[in-house]
Amino acid sequence: MVKRRIIVGVWKDKLMPTEALKQANELVSMYKGKNLLFDACIAPSPVALSAVNSITSNSSISTVAQDVHWPDPKRSFIGSTSIPMLKEIGIKMCMVGHSERRGYFGETDEDIYKKLSALIDADIFPILAIGDDVEVVSERKEILTRQLMGALKPDSEKPIDISKIAIAYEPVWAISTWRSDAPLPIGTEVTEMMALVDSILTETCKLNTSSTPLLYGGSVAPKNAEDYFSQSNVDGALVGGASLTVESLSTVFNIAQQIWGD
Ligand code: PGA
Repeated sequence: MVKRRIIVGVWKDKLMPTEALKQANELVSMYKGKNLLFDACIAPSPVALSAVNSITSNSSISTVAQDVHWPDPKRSFIGSTSIPMLKEIGIKMCMVGHSERRGYFGETDEDIYKKLSALIDADIFPILAIGDDVEVVSERKEILTRQLMGALKPDSEKPIDISKIAIAYEPVWAISTWRSDAPLPIGTEVTEMMALVDSILTETCKLNTSSTPLLYGGSVAPKNAEDYFSQSNVDGALVGGASLTVESLSTVFNIAQQIWGD
């Protein structure tokens, strides 16, 4: 069975609201009536989320929230977006656990678990990002296991149902804004990294990954997208820097369409 495939252009805080609206409009017209083989998504900043979602609704493009806060009826979280707010504006997908949220905002696996759980309850599809910030394979397994066990709580009373989420593996050192000198992983190296994530999920967490899309992220761009999308265990990507122009993001979308259409 082919899993759902998803590519998200993650605009972070880089596109101004006017630029986000312009680019959303351009992408919507570019893919009007096209039967894409994957969910072609854009994730604008919270300031532009509602307006961009109005542009993309009923089109081939979907709008994804970059983050959300976990709910607690007794407290408030100034500066945050709540799940009911996403629901009200019609958002259907939301990212959780990006390395910048973990690294700069101190987001913990427990926070991520609470967000995943509440998003699923609200029928919003979460994309959980995980990633190792070292290049040592033995530590990679340990780090990813800790992140997945902590965010999914497979042994708890309320484990996360991974048939209702996507998981994005992003080696943090490959992300353009955290980039180290290490060469970007390519080809079978990526297949092996994705297989490691899959094996942690199936063997350690004892979960069934047969319908969980596994996305890759970290400097995915027109020049290397073909390599990533050709790996049989890569079901999509998070694209940061290369999503900031329509030309570059649409090139990534078109490469995926071509490879997955073959
Ligand atoms: P990048 O960002 O494509 O610029 O490396 C990816 C991400 O931050 O998810």
